[in-house]
Amino acid sequence: MSVASAESNPTGSASSTTGAASRHEQSALAGERVLVLDFGSQLAQLIARRVREQHVYCEIVRHDLSAERIAEIAPKGIILSGGPSSVYAADAPRCDPKLFEMGIPVLGICYGMQLACEALGGRVHAHDVREYGRAHCEVVDSADLFRGVHTQTEVWMSHGDQVTQIAADFTPLAKTATCPFAAVRHNRLPVYGLQFHPEVTHTVEGKTILGNFLREVCGTTGQWRLGDFADETIAAVRQRVGGSRVICGLSGGVDSSVVAALLAKAIGPQLSCILVDNGLLRKDEEAAVVREFTEHFQTDLHVVKAEQRFLERLAGVVDPQEKRRRIGAEFIECFKEEAAKVEDARFLAQGTLYPDVIESGGSGDGPAASIKLHHNVGGLPKELGFELIEPLRDLFKDEVRRLGLQLGLPEEIVWRHPFPGPGLAVRCLGEVTADKLHTLREADAIVVGEIKAAGLYRQTSQAFAVLLPVQSVGVMGDGRTYENALAVRCVNTDDFMTADWSHLPHDLLSRISTRIINEVAGVNRVVYDISSKPPATIEWE
Ligand code: XMP
Repeated sequence: MSVASAESNPTGSASSTTGAASRHEQSALAGERVLVLDFGSQLAQLIARRVREQHVYCEIVRHDLSAERIAEIAPKGIILSGGPSSVYAADAPRCDPKLFEMGIPVLGICYGMQLACEALGGRVHAHDVREYGRAHCEVVDSADLFRGVHTQTEVWMSHGDQVTQIAADFTPLAKTATCPFAAVRHNRLPVYGLQFHPEVTHTVEGKTILGNFLREVCGTTGQWRLGDFADETIAAVRQRVGGSRVICGLSGGVDSSVVAALLAKAIGPQLSCILVDNGLLRKDEEAAVVREFTEHFQTDLHVVKAEQRFLERLAGVVDPQEKRRRIGAEFIECFKEEAAKVEDARFLAQGTLYPDVIESGGSGDGPAASIKLHHNVGGLPKELGFELIEPLRDLFKDEVRRLGLQLGLPEEIVWRHPFPGPGLAVRCLGEVTADKLHTLREADAIVVGEIKAAGLYRQTSQAFAVLLPVQSVGVMGDGRTYENALAVRCVNTDDFMTADWSHLPHDLLSRISTRIINEVAGVNRVVYDISSKPPATIEWE
């Protein structure tokens, strides 16, 4: 599971009962569709997002999807992603070779290009040096793919192998100093290849190149809109739910809030929301959710006041994974008890996002589960007995945020940083107590508040305080103090798998430190965490 829904579900996502079939039913609303065949690239999801940004619905599928299945799906175009393998290796992942002859436009990117060129008669070899980074590219043929692109343009390369010889049927479209075939086109088949990555922003005109592939080559018209997605998803939910009641767990995070807002629009009074207040939430978080879902959306909101139960369950526990296990188990208990009070509930709505679906291997045509492991395993158990509704399972996080705004959720909720399911418990190092949580919550509110006031909240991915189990000597007035140290952690990241510490302005750090030491009792020292991930993680536990 990715971080995407980390904030919305303390125990991770339950596996879905809505499989590939419903995905394709639902995405039939997309009309025009492009498939990305995933050869193990970290950038496959980015390619799909870039395509969707051009209003063409895009899905990531297994690299070895059969030509027959592809014909059934009838995409307007196919993109072969990059990947870590070498096409000449015995175990290299390949696509169905019939795919090139189907008349469906194909764009191979990096490994995808090498695969296409090799399959159609070219040669691929290891290059003397691995090329990584920006490269100057000269466009030698500016028809279709490079229409409107400058003759000299900057691209992003990341490869060890490259195409060294193309078959007579291919025409070179662009070159760099070290790569004679930076882009190619087949003369007879609608097959194109790019050695560089148009999906990353360092490829300055990547958007134009991808747009040309979509419009000029695939003939897509760019009709896909989130607004339509919302309308059609609302209609689909109404039809599926009929007169039944739906339960939705709210956490305060973006994903569950958007699901609840969507369902509130779809089925209004048939929706019951459950918010488990585990006492581990950030300051004022519960109040904001309650306000939104009672005053604005007017849902039947059940708030379970469970702080005491969680604290008892966590008493004496210092091991982080044990904290997670206990919090997960207690959450299920609380949720179950409250859900039992909701009469006639048949469905459970969850904020599963598309990256979760891809990474869990939970989609019929999608790639196999990736090796990305997350802290969250398990999820709400199936024996709760509900049928799952996952209205966001086709969307990326940025699309969920835009949808949230369209549905009328406030920016405060839509742009909230991710928050781990176990909440402040994994930021309160060592044993969790009510006093420590209070200290941490107050300090955390100062960190976030000051970053917001400096206008830097949206530019950072996660910002928070960590209460350390360390005391140090200080001096206040005439006396010595011996109080807690607290760490401030702020990171920038695209995918939460790697992250850099945020280079916050010194005067901002200074304000944060001064305010915490002055205003939060029990803290006399503030340190700023300057470790990147890897090797450090974002959370301290
Ligand atoms: P790490 O610490 O592994 O965190 O670099 C990566 C992202 O995952 C979040 N995180 C969690 N989310 N349950 C969650 O729902 C957890 O147990 C958990 N641990 C870490 C973390 O906040 C960051 O966004």
